[in-house]
Amino acid sequence: MFSSLSLSLTALTVAFVVPSAVNAHGYVHSLEVGGKNYTGWLPFTDPYESPVPNRIVRKLPDDGPVLDASSSDLACNKGGESPAGAVATAAAGSNVVFDWLTWPSDHMGPVSTYMTSCNGDCKTFDASNAKWFKVDASGYTNGKWAATQLIDNGFKWTSTIPSGLKPGNYLIRNEIVALHSAGQPQYYPSCAQLSVTGSGTTVPSGSELVSIPGIYNNVQWPDIWDDNFKSFAAPGPAVAFSGSSSGSEGSDPAPSSSAKSSAAASSTHNSATHVSSAETSHSATSTHVSISVPTTTAEPANTSIASSSAAASTGRCRSKRRRGMVKRHVSHHAKRHH
Ligand SMILES: *[C@@H]1O[C@H](CO)[C@@H](O)[C@H](O)[C@H]1NC(C)=O
Ligand SMILES: *[C@@H]1O[C@H](CO)[C@@H](O)[C@H](O)[C@H]1NC(C)=O
Repeated sequence: MFSSLSLSLTALTVAFVVPSAVNAHGYVHSLEVGGKNYTGWLPFTDPYESPVPNRIVRKLPDDGPVLDASSSDLACNKGGESPAGAVATAAAGSNVVFDWLTWPSDHMGPVSTYMTSCNGDCKTFDASNAKWFKVDASGYTNGKWAATQLIDNGFKWTSTIPSGLKPGNYLIRNEIVALHSAGQPQYYPSCAQLSVTGSGTTVPSGSELVSIPGIYNNVQWPDIWDDNFKSFAAPGPAVAFSGSSSGSEGSDPAPSSSAKSSAAASSTHNSATHVSSAETSHSATSTHVSISVPTTTAEPANTSIASSSAAASTGRCRSKRRRGMVKRHVSHHAKRHH
């Protein structure tokens, strides 16, 4: 019974998941800092200009994701440990607006902003061993992912440099994590170089400082296409200078957020529990993979990770919108056979 059910689920899923249009990802193509508008690093044109422009944003090679949460690329994108040629001046307490060129609506997930001191000139600062503090972060709240809020806000994310922050040179890092590909989160970080002015004296405490990579170790990312998915707080430390070590949105430590989402997942539809795990693994084998890839049954998780990396590294990202339809269809089908 169970194996014939599994077979028909596979057939259905494969039939319904068809390759769809290639999505363009975004990158921070402009910023407002200290009330001034700065052009970001434009990966598809800046490298070919003569001279190559000095930007406040550190270079990234393209609009593709970082896939390895333990890579040094997680800090400031691929090659972003190396400095950029310009620095923007902004007062503590003022806003920094990150303006993304575009963002695909199915690339849903958390958005966060961190800062780190450059310990001197940002134009000579290697970000590899930096200690970062969180400025803001948002996961999934009130039925909406932070990435969707960013899209709804014209692809813009606004962060506030903490008021009272000790003046000096800082990197500010804005990141979208896209969770559309189950089992393979995609990280899109971008760092800009700031000179913060003011008369503040506040510096982050030791417990507010984290390493990047490091913030996503042991994070259990949710399956955002799971019908029972309800909430997810952005991972990482508490927002610095927030005066409390927990409680505010976006500052919940990872373990409590994953506990929350698994609690949510197990609280409904008892009868569908084993069916939904079958759904998840079968869907995972066939998403982010064109249907020409043979379906395997042995190690779905490994297959999924390998194929989604391959797809992402070629810069291609297929829409997952159909997956929701497939899953709904599949669960009806499964219930009829129950
Ligand atoms: C900077 O100016 C450009 C051109 O007017 C505009 O498209 C962009 O949104 C501005 N950036 C920000 C962050 O406001
Ligand atoms: C993946 O592959 C490794 C090595 O082949 C294996 O040990 C592991 O059990 C596989 N499955 C997962 C889910 O990692």
